Amino acid sequence: MCGIIGYIGEGQAAEVILSGLRKLEYRGYDSAGVAIVNNGKIERRRSEGKLINLAKLLDAQPVAGCAGIGHTRWATHGRPTEFNAHPHIDCTGAISVVHNGIIENYLKLKDELIAGGHEFRSQTDTEVLAHLIEAEMKKNGGDVGAALRRALRRVEGAYAIGVIHKDHPDVIYAGRKSSPLIIGLGEGENFIASDVPAILPYTRRIIYLEEEEIAVLTRDSVKITDLDGNPLTKPVEVIEWNPVLAEKGGFPHFMLKEIHEQPQVIRNTIGGRTDEENAKIYLEELGLSIEEVKALSTVYIVACGTAYYAGAVGKYMLEKLAGVHVDVDFASEFRYRDPMVNENTLVIVISQSGETADTLAALRMAKERGAKVIGIVNVKGSSISREVDGVLYIHAGPEIGVASTKAYVAMLIALLLLSIQFGRMRGLVTAPDARRLIHLLKTLPQKIEDTLADTTSIKDIADRYSDRRDFLYLGRGINFPTAMEGALKLKEISYIHAEAYAAGEMKHGPIALIDRRMPVVSIATQSHVYDKMLSNIQEVIAREGIVIALATQGDAEILKFTKDVIFVPDTEELLSPIINVVPLQLLAYHVAVNRGSDVDQPRNLAKSVTVE
Ligand code: M6R
Repeated sequence: MCGIIGYIGEGQAAEVILSGLRKLEYRGYDSAGVAIVNNGKIERRRSEGKLINLAKLLDAQPVAGCAGIGHTRWATHGRPTEFNAHPHIDCTGAISVVHNGIIENYLKLKDELIAGGHEFRSQTDTEVLAHLIEAEMKKNGGDVGAALRRALRRVEGAYAIGVIHKDHPDVIYAGRKSSPLIIGLGEGENFIASDVPAILPYTRRIIYLEEEEIAVLTRDSVKITDLDGNPLTKPVEVIEWNPVLAEKGGFPHFMLKEIHEQPQVIRNTIGGRTDEENAKIYLEELGLSIEEVKALSTVYIVACGTAYYAGAVGKYMLEKLAGVHVDVDFASEFRYRDPMVNENTLVIVISQSGETADTLAALRMAKERGAKVIGIVNVKGSSISREVDGVLYIHAGPEIGVASTKAYVAMLIALLLLSIQFGRMRGLVTAPDARRLIHLLKTLPQKIEDTLADTTSIKDIADRYSDRRDFLYLGRGINFPTAMEGALKLKEISYIHAEAYAAGEMKHGPIALIDRRMPVVSIATQSHVYDKMLSNIQEVIAREGIVIALATQGDAEILKFTKDVIFVPDTEELLSPIINVVPLQLLAYHVAVNRGSDVDQPRNLAKSVTVE
């Protein structure tokens, strides 16, 4: 949930750390700080609010030194104030710590440390780590690495941690459990970071730390051990991302850039996985045999937020094409109930980041119960991608805007590929059907390009209704999840209250909300429930609600009901959510811009939710 970075080398650590934090700010942005070790002491700079405040502070009060750690925070324990900002220090100021995750037994540890004479300065769980290391060093001698290992053995919960010590200016210590941490290998310099973009300008050679692994970095070496100090040999991976992809590329916001990348993302997700002529889909990376797929009786799709809504669309696709019963669960619910999961169940976890704590925990629970678990994931090498039995990468590239857009569309493509493949394996999708669907899939990028080429009607509607307090979103069938995703986009970046309903449910209560100030975004593209949707639209109009309709190009009927229409290109109903979500993303975007909210970093949110 927070971003951490550490640098040791010959350059000025503060500069490298600040540039890395800029790339990690999407993970949290309510306070930030750095600690640099130099001339036998640790110097800290911390500030409340966004990174820009820390940058100004560092301009005014620079810190020199070639080793240090930095942090950008999304508050869990303790308000987002300067004194709760990381890095935290021990009583003597010798040890400084940055941390991402939650120390679940911190209160017990804190009480014990206070009883032993330690004084705490913050309300965070993280500060116990600095004091624990200090206590361990006092008790068992001065080796920082050994003290860190002993300290972490006492800790329950999740951590990615970076540590420096005033007497060891040539070393950074790091460790990880259930929160991501990578090591970057440079020439005469090494790095730790929560995510790849932070260090991509400096190196592409990465080691992924695994559960309960500790790293000791100098500028020329990286040693990795387990918590008992046993040395480990780890593979070095080379990242192929283009750093330009992670920049705004001329768009005012990452979100808008990412919306515009969707046609290319679809091509990337499909790329190399289809053979239209022979009606074939290639998803060998999932490691599922035809026998396993044929034997499926229940599939669980488990995810959070936008990934959950992608899963909800996936349910329609899988049930229709593969004839298998699908349950869709929020990961945070799934993991705390007693789902009927066993060795005959397939669990599909979906996650852009591959680090979402609830999704990761759900995957672990499903595996413990013997289920086969496959992942639909964007970030390569992420925790989820490494723990699943098979992974289908969506190839959306780095998604920086906190509101997920291109990853959602790529997830839908992956789910459709999977559904066609399962349908073929189970004998329900014929070769001509598969050929038709593959062909239609390939037409989607152009259709989305057409939608993006003229967004006038979307902007006009946004201008007319940006001042509203509430919005309703209605959809039916496979586009009910589209309504939910549209409402989520509006909520998270414009802070307008938005609710999505299955349109047929309106008359069972929510219709009471409608009055002449209520915009009702109604997804009425061509489908087998089009007429039903028109009836629901009339119900809204009868109560003086404002209908904003999403309709298929050429639909003259809809203009009889409302002048606020966004037209989208025609496609088969099963693929329509992939096209329909795009104007809803743009509507939310333009409303948010009109209201002056921070589109890429909306309040209270973080891109990657690595705490439960
Ligand atoms: O990285 P994940 O896909 O696992 O993230 C899941 C949700 O946190 C994420 O989709 C969130 O809802 C986004 N802010 C939605 O735009």
